[in-house]
Amino acid sequence: MTPFRVGLIGCSKRGNIFAHAYRGRVDVQLVACADLIEDNAQQMARKHQILKIFTDARKMLETEQLDIVNVCTRTRQHPELVIAAAESGARAVCSEKPMAPTWGEARRQYEACASRGVQSFYCHQRRFDPLFHRAKQLIDSGAIGRLVRVEGSCRNLFDWGTHWFDMFFHYNNDEPAVSVMGQIDARDTHTWFDIPMEGSGISWVQFQSGLQGLMVTGLAGNLGRPNINRILGEEGMIEVGSEGMSILRLFDGNGGWHDVDWKDDDYFTRWEALRQRIRDEENKAAAADPSGKTKPVPEAHLIGMASVAMALGDAIDCLKTGAEPMLSGRKALQATELIFATYESSRRRAKVILPLDVEDSAFLTMLADGAIKAS
Ligand SMILES: NC(=O)c1ccc[n+]([C@@H]2O[C@H](COP(=O)([O-])OP(=O)(O)OC[C@H]3O[C@@H](n4cnc5c(N)ncnc54)[C@H](O)[C@@H]3O)[C@@H](O)[C@H]2O)c1
Repeated sequence: MTPFRVGLIGCSKRGNIFAHAYRGRVDVQLVACADLIEDNAQQMARKHQILKIFTDARKMLETEQLDIVNVCTRTRQHPELVIAAAESGARAVCSEKPMAPTWGEARRQYEACASRGVQSFYCHQRRFDPLFHRAKQLIDSGAIGRLVRVEGSCRNLFDWGTHWFDMFFHYNNDEPAVSVMGQIDARDTHTWFDIPMEGSGISWVQFQSGLQGLMVTGLAGNLGRPNINRILGEEGMIEVGSEGMSILRLFDGNGGWHDVDWKDDDYFTRWEALRQRIRDEENKAAAADPSGKTKPVPEAHLIGMASVAMALGDAIDCLKTGAEPMLSGRKALQATELIFATYESSRRRAKVILPLDVEDSAFLTMLADGAIKAS
């Protein structure tokens, strides 16, 4: 089979992660990369042996007959670039998260791909992190009985929360959500990758299956442990998190909390092999740079990098069969809806019944028109 031709847009840290993910596969070939900053594109091309570079992504889309386009820019550029990639004739568009700055843009991006039969993918790679993978296995095996509540805490609803909302759906087999009630506070508003985020947030989500979801962000608190998911079933509980510490523990009828070994299976072995390959590639690139400016990524970053490689592998396999990838645009859109529905609930001072029928980000609009003030 002729390898899929891949073009990468945005040649910085996340671009590097995706470039590693494509390497080592015989069914894809990274043929071109584009960045507004030529030096970034050149460095990426040198490091990952990419033949062509562009400073205009649209030119690359026009000339390279790409099968897969990978958008690794910041979120503000996603709507334009994802739509252009979908219109270019590519068969798949992979993008970084969060999807888009507003709900209208996120929907249009998704539609641009879906209406043309283009596979879309957003990088919610936690589903492929071996800790979370094992947590999902525990849930599916009935270890905690029927799910009743999922909880997450993190810095903000948008940049981090998109991962946790995505995981809420994952734990619940991607069954739909029906309503969201939330509140946000603009004190300690912070900007992350050029987009303002609330300082505190609370989101209460009802799912069709009866499951309930609770997200707490920033100064609103952290559920007793920062950056974790707590999954409550009728017969037990799981806590899982990997930011700063790796934790996977189960509370069940067998004597309270106990740590779960998440490294003793075939999935971990495959993931670990990818982590080792990427570690080797990073060390080799550093050794090959006589200036000493190229440094290998920190060891902690390799966790996410291996998970992205697993996720992308799944999407490439799905491109051959027509199956829906684990990190499909459809799934990303449902997580994204919960972010904007929480903002909207705060604006309306009411519960929002889904589907969400607004175009904007209520948070950004309220900041812009002075309805709330950042401090
Ligand atoms: N999945 C995750 O867990 C995760 C983790 C960190 C960051 N991210 C997301 O990844 C995104 C990128 O992160 P980063 O650290 O690589 O950002 P970055 O700002 O370092 O890099 C963005 C690159 O895109 C280039 N660029 C911008 N507009 C462009 C255009 N129109 N055409 C071509 N190139 C363009 C920039 O010049 C830059 O090189 C962020 O938005 C962030 O939300 C995701």
